[in-house]
Amino acid sequence: MSWVTKTLSSTIGRKLIMALTGLFLILFLTGHVSGNLLLFKGDGGEAFNIYAKFMTTNPAVKLLSYLTYISIIGHVIFSIWLSKRNKSARPIGYGVSTPPSTTVSSRNMGILGTIILIFIVVHMQSFWAQMHWGDLPVVTYDGEQYKDLFSIVTFAFQNELMVIGYVVAMVFLAFHLSHGFASAFQTLGLNHAKYSPAISVIGKIYCILVPILFASMPVYIYFTQS
Ligand code: HEM
Repeated sequence: MSWVTKTLSSTIGRKLIMALTGLFLILFLTGHVSGNLLLFKGDGGEAFNIYAKFMTTNPAVKLLSYLTYISIIGHVIFSIWLSKRNKSARPIGYGVSTPPSTTVSSRNMGILGTIILIFIVVHMQSFWAQMHWGDLPVVTYDGEQYKDLFSIVTFAFQNELMVIGYVVAMVFLAFHLSHGFASAFQTLGLNHAKYSPAISVIGKIYCILVPILFASMPVYIYFTQS
């Protein structure tokens, strides 16, 4: 058996892949939320549309996008494998209903992850598919043409249900991240007496700040663009 097959079929190997893909997705979310802050610029979407064109045409960014799609798919597949393995290793269940050291997030990672996956599918259909294959209006800045993705985003967030759906999804994302962040560091063995407290604080701030920033975008657009 090659080391790749060995890694992919062992529990620790699968946990490692979950941790690495999870951390990559955390990096993706950091970049995504930072770029999307351009929605707040109040310039009619010019900076956001220029940014969106760069993100969908630059070869290096395209490579990162492919890594993002692979990470999402890998993260989902390996989580299903791991939970199946955990269930077959412990078919009878614990004597007490929940082990004492678990949290609401850690016990519901599968449900949280499934909701986030549904969110990502709907989200990509609304924006990403539109950007790539949709018949978008075109705007011209300094003689160059850009797809007006800003108009699609602002149109989508005129809908109350969409805004509420995004805000609720971000609450689930916060819970999923709060366990995922700590768990990834633990799996990778990055626990250090000196640095772990700082990593834990950064993790907690991240898991609250990033979902709040994402959630504030539809809310801001709903109240300012109608
Ligand atoms: C309300 C906040 C958000 C807004 C306004 C937003 C907006 C967008 C837009 C306009 C695109 C298409 C542009 C492009 O293809 O580069 C996009 C792509 C994407 N979004 Fe979001 N997004 C938000 C939150 C999220 C969240 C929370 C996630 C994940 C949990 C997410 C995951 C993705 C992914 C995976 C893509 C495809 C990226 C790629 O092709 O590289 N987004 N988003």
